[in-house]
Amino acid sequence: MTTLTLSSADATTLTADVLVIGTAPAGGRRKGAVLVGPAASFKAASKRRLEESLTALGATGKVGDVVTVPGTGISTAPIVLAVGLGSGPYDDETLRRAAGTALRSLAGHRRAAVALPVETPGALTAVAEGALLGAYSYDEYKVTSKSSHKSGVDRITVAVADSKDAATVAASAHAKAVASGVNLARDLVNAPSQDLTPVDFARVATEVSDGLPIEIEILDEKALTEGGYGGILGVGRGSVNPPRLVRLAYRPDGATQHLSLVGKGITFDTGGISIKPSMSMHEMKGDMGGAAAALGTIVTAAKLGLAINITSYLCLAENMPSGSAQKPGDVLRTYGGTTVEVLDTDAEGRLVLADGLVRAQEDKPDILIDIATLTGAAVVALGIRTTGIMANDDDLRTAIHVAGNRAGENTWPMPQPEELRANFDSLVADLTNIGLVGRSHGGMLSASIFLKEFVKPGQSWAHLDIAGPSYNSLSAWAYTPRGGTGVAVRTLTALAEDLIARQA
Ligand code: BES
Ligand code: ZN
Ligand code: ZN
Repeated sequence: MTTLTLSSADATTLTADVLVIGTAPAGGRRKGAVLVGPAASFKAASKRRLEESLTALGATGKVGDVVTVPGTGISTAPIVLAVGLGSGPYDDETLRRAAGTALRSLAGHRRAAVALPVETPGALTAVAEGALLGAYSYDEYKVTSKSSHKSGVDRITVAVADSKDAATVAASAHAKAVASGVNLARDLVNAPSQDLTPVDFARVATEVSDGLPIEIEILDEKALTEGGYGGILGVGRGSVNPPRLVRLAYRPDGATQHLSLVGKGITFDTGGISIKPSMSMHEMKGDMGGAAAALGTIVTAAKLGLAINITSYLCLAENMPSGSAQKPGDVLRTYGGTTVEVLDTDAEGRLVLADGLVRAQEDKPDILIDIATLTGAAVVALGIRTTGIMANDDDLRTAIHVAGNRAGENTWPMPQPEELRANFDSLVADLTNIGLVGRSHGGMLSASIFLKEFVKPGQSWAHLDIAGPSYNSLSAWAYTPRGGTGVAVRTLTALAEDLIARQA
């Protein structure tokens, strides 16, 4: 885990391998980059030399620009890295991305000092969060020097005006809590399914909530059978690794509102008997990204001491084909009694969520949100950086979208067309698990219509399809690495904070 500390010392005197500074386009008729933020007040001679050498090396100061120069005669750090911030204004996401870009490009170094514009607590939170997210690397299985892998920076010092100021300290603590929640979710998504079975996931949930005011309850296969959780059991039946339902409850003193999160936790999705093609199947180790977000969010909220009750349900199962696996045409009895004819065993997420959603409503939450890597159709519709929001409550849909914008995560509202419901009529059971039109014709919306059958009238509910943004199979960018992204932790944490603020 990367550590982050604050320092009010002159940034050029900080002990580090690299000093990070910010640049902007020079503007007017001048070419190149000028220094901004704390670097703009470096000694005149240092500032002039840095601007000249950066410009000579082709620095533009535009967003995404990264240029390094020797720190000789300028800083204690032997290297100065200049990251472009663009011409401003510097909103939180610009700062978060710039800090992320800088720290990500510093992988392989151990210590970084960061001197970026952090005049307000909000700006400091953004820079610290971006830095911690950008410094992330998944090193668990990197053993020998055979790979070209470089570990992320492990010590970050951020230069601030007054490192003892209460608002400054709180701003950095906030960033640390959020970044550790996101990085936890990333680790879970990146973990190979051989080492992250439902049992392993439940153990991690126990470990990370240890020492926090979170109560945990784990239903094993016996308890699931006794409780009648047919969705989770049906999906998990084909695997030698038994399923689990984990319930985490955070109940801070004085909180009145209650937010419930239900995460899809398929630790590997082969598709089951309706098996998937092998191309990119390995990415299905990340089919538990929703459960990872539900866990990451409750842990973050508890660390921050947010004054809102949160319950997280992790619906954990491994979807495998085998002699004991459920078969197309089989009928499940989900928690609460609704029967489902499984026409496609690859539409398994909605089966485990059906159990989770019904169970979650017994707690009578004010707001119910499920988070799931649910459909390939979501990736077709919204690409790989945008979460689809489907809700039965206009205010909640908007609140999630607004929280996502504040947190720096893209979301977009999607409809729940009523006419899709008839597609789920079954010859033998209450419902089928795939619409007549199968994977096509608005598959993301269709999945949400299925889930809606398990939500009681009057229950405020939203469904987040994170199939696209949960896993980055392309290149790293800003503070987003390849592989697991930890998406939705930041949006859901921001939503919880907005709910508290709205009530106050
Ligand atoms: N886990 C997949 C969805 C998915 C696809 C997530 C790509 C991330 C990236 C899900 O269980 C699934 O297979 N859904 C099917 C549903 C279909 C059978 C109705 C799909 O999207 O093809
Ligand atoms: Zn599937
Ligand atoms: Zn799946």
